[in-house]
Order: sequence, then structure tokens, then C-alpha cells
Amino acid sequence: VLGGIAFGVGYVVDASTQVLGIALSVAFAGLTIGFAAWVALLPEGPFVEEREQMTSSAADRAALADDLGQADGGIVSAPLPRRMLTLALTVLGLAALLPVRSLLGTGLKPGRSQRETNWAVDVPVVKEDGTFIRPDELELGAAVTVFPQDRKRGDDEAVLLLRVDPAHLQLPAQRADWTVNGIIGYSKICTHAGCPVGLYAQGAGELLCPCHQSVFDIYRGAEPRYGPAARPLPQLPLGTDDQGRLVARGPLSGPPGPGWWRRS
Ligand code: FES
Repeated sequence: VLGGIAFGVGYVVDASTQVLGIALSVAFAGLTIGFAAWVALLPEGPFVEEREQMTSSAADRAALADDLGQADGGIVSAPLPRRMLTLALTVLGLAALLPVRSLLGTGLKPGRSQRETNWAVDVPVVKEDGTFIRPDELELGAAVTVFPQDRKRGDDEAVLLLRVDPAHLQLPAQRADWTVNGIIGYSKICTHAGCPVGLYAQGAGELLCPCHQSVFDIYRGAEPRYGPAARPLPQLPLGTDDQGRLVARGPLSGPPGPGWWRRS
């Protein structure tokens, strides 16, 4: 009962998926324990039935009906488990109705929150530990995950920096100056369903998403080459500041991650 109530409250206040999962786990664990406890109330065997006579006598049937109705351990007369089961299933049933709100279009909407990140003009590029990064730190073939100096959306703002041979790059003309010494930056969040695109096939010049095997061409603006992703990984325009540290020269070329929200 408490698990079902917690699920309902959690859904209404937009608690995380983990909290909703824990609430459902508690609810079903409670049901499991309840059923186990109910089993303990059943009469214990062993029971032996004579097979010659397949139909019970009227007297036996009357005795059984009496037995089931007894207050001291009879099945029918054990009211607490039955009432608790009814209550638990009722609460769970009501909690299961709440997600209907999502179908009515009245729930919270993401607005522009999915579109905006902290990547902007002159925002320093930092490593996971918050330290700045200089172009000469990355050797040919290197790949490192970086973030804007002040993160707004946490891991959603992760960018993968790759150092490639500039002669291989075939970027769109307007992105010709978005790289520094062959260092190129792409959003690390897959445009299919949001997994981290963490596999770098250096020889083939491809980034691979391990979730559903989307493949992105790092030389051609991370255009998808294979798999379910239909949109390229957004690219980060890169430059250096007056101290030679890598900085962003503007926002990502598009919203990071999957695009199931309204983009216009
Ligand atoms: S999340 Fe990357 S291919 Fe599905």
C-alpha cells in the first residue's frame, strides 16, 4: 500500500525514474511477502484421499464447507490477508492510472531546456577534473571527454575531443575554421536515444554508439553512416584564448542528444 502511494506521489511531483522504480519494487515486494504470509495460514498436510470414490459424499462436502469457514484457521475466514490484498491492488491500480496524465499533454514540458547548454563564445574547455586543456596536449589519435567550464546540464554537455589528421577532414564549408590543429569536438550524446558515444574506431574514422550500433563519420561532421541515429552529432566550434587554452567559439551546432522534443 505504501509503495503504491509513494509511486503516485512520486509521479505527481515528477520524482526521478529511480524513485518510481523503488516505489514499485516496495509495492511488489509487499505483495510477495503478503502472499507468502497467506500461504502460512493454509492448513498443513499431508492429506490422503481415497481414489476409489471420485465424488465426495454429501457429508464430506458439508464438513469441508464448515472447515473453510472456521474462524480458527479456516481459509475463508482469514480476513486480514484478503483485505490487505484488496487494498494493495486497489492502491496499485489507482497509481497505474496516474501516468495517463502524460498522454493528456498537460504534464511538464521541457521548453528550451533541452536545446540550451553552457557552450558559448569563449567558454573554456575543461577536462573531467576541471583542468584546462591545450591543443598540444592531444597527440594524433587521442580522444578525451571535455565539458564547458561551468556545467549547466551535467553530462549532457559532454563533448568528445578528437585529434585527427587535418588532411582527412571534409567538413561543411562554414565549419572550416571550427577545428584547432586537427582537434575536432563532437557532442558525446547519441542523437538516437542518448547513450554516450564512447567507442572510437580511429582507423576507420568512426564513432560508435554501443547501445544500438549507430556509427558516425568524424571526418564529415559526424554524419550518421549506419544504425538508427538519423541526425549528426552536434559539433563544437573550437578556438584558443590568449593563453593558448582551448575554448568554445560558440554553442554546439544543434541540441545535444535525441530530438523527440519540438525543435522549432
Ligand atoms: S542510443 Fe546510440 S544508437 Fe541508440
